[in-house]
Amino acid sequence: MKIQVNARNRAYSFDSGEKEQVLFAGLRSAVDLPYECSTGTCGTCKAKLIDGKIYDPWPEAPGRKYLKPEQGEFLMCQCVARTDITIELGNFVYGLDPGACLPRSSFGVIRRTRPLTHDVTFLEIEPDRPQEFDAGQFFAVGVPGIPGYRGYSMVNFERQAKRLEFVIKKKPGGGFSEWLFNSGIEGTAVNLVGPLGHATFYPNLGKNLLCIAGGSGIAGMMSILSRAVQERYFDQHRGYLFFGVRTMKDTFFLEELSSFRKAFPGSLDITIALSDEDVPADAAGRHPLLGFDRGFVHEVAARHMKGKYQNLRAYLAGPPPAVDGAIRMLIVEAKLTTDNIKYDKFS
Ligand SMILES: Cc1cc2nc3c(=O)[nH]c(=O)nc-3n(C[C@H](O)[C@H](O)[C@H](O)COP(=O)(O)OP(=O)(O)OC[C@H]3O[C@@H](n4cnc5c(N)ncnc54)[C@H](O)[C@@H]3O)c2cc1C
Ligand code: FES
Repeated sequence: MKIQVNARNRAYSFDSGEKEQVLFAGLRSAVDLPYECSTGTCGTCKAKLIDGKIYDPWPEAPGRKYLKPEQGEFLMCQCVARTDITIELGNFVYGLDPGACLPRSSFGVIRRTRPLTHDVTFLEIEPDRPQEFDAGQFFAVGVPGIPGYRGYSMVNFERQAKRLEFVIKKKPGGGFSEWLFNSGIEGTAVNLVGPLGHATFYPNLGKNLLCIAGGSGIAGMMSILSRAVQERYFDQHRGYLFFGVRTMKDTFFLEELSSFRKAFPGSLDITIALSDEDVPADAAGRHPLLGFDRGFVHEVAARHMKGKYQNLRAYLAGPPPAVDGAIRMLIVEAKLTTDNIKYDKFS
């Protein structure tokens, strides 16, 4: 199918596969169509159908509440072209940077799962061929028998990765996360679309880094810190990570975080924020390279970051209330401009 996109600044045209969502067809063709979640919840990918027919496999998608369907508006991350179509976007649209990792549809096999806490599991997927991605990106993962895709941020960072590593929090009643906690899923083939996401870190950034993660939002931050440590970014710049969980029992990756700090003890600070309990007396003794504090992660970050907001880029990820709280704090208190606040809301 041919897709013609009339954006505010110019027109693009590309082909889409028979069952390929309009968004994924555009990104694969290096057209940087607007999106955030890529999975039907945020409404960022809204477009207007001018001509032709589309199929919407998920008419109940939460992101549809941002649409005016009577005016032909639809979600590009869900809908598939049934004929050649022409669509209109209210956004300026540009080509993806020549060096960007272009997303593609592919397959992978679940190789390993490992519990990290009572409700968070580590998941390792082997892609069908070595995969490039940028630190902070995510993949849309689809499992046969469970409708739709789910976004998951990579934990690891390596060139031509032979493994994609994720951490996944169990959502009670959630289709994918409940399934993942079953035994015997190793060897299952999954569909992948990616890499996706704009909350990416490149070592030529030239700014201090502030990472604020709620729960499994630590995934993308691990990838960003891995890359920064590999490239010795903290020789020149400061780094601050705040990792929010409810209690000490909900923490994970503390050894890995300690090893990042050990490599840059003078320039990288890592603080674990506990929202639902006081910091246990033995926490600092057991993890001497990490700091601990009580409170919601954005409040703890605000307390520790006073006076340290110059030349800063912030990365945020996790449940929407944690990310929204951190965005508000960074705009109101830190006076950060929105181009220096990159985030993924796990909605
Ligand atoms: C950019 C991004 C990165 C994320 N990274 C992580 C991460 O690293 N770790 C983590 O634990 N979570 C992450 N999430 C959240 C994750 O994608 C899931 O929302 C979460 O795991 C719950 O999925 P579930 O299937 O258990 O719950 P469900 O409630 O069954 O599904 C949740 C999501 O799946 C999609 N969906 C559900 N039903 C349908 C349907 N019928 N058709 C099409 N789509 C459907 C929708 O997007 C819905 O919001 C991320 C989310 C985003 C947007
Ligand atoms: S990108 Fe389509 S609804 Fe979020």
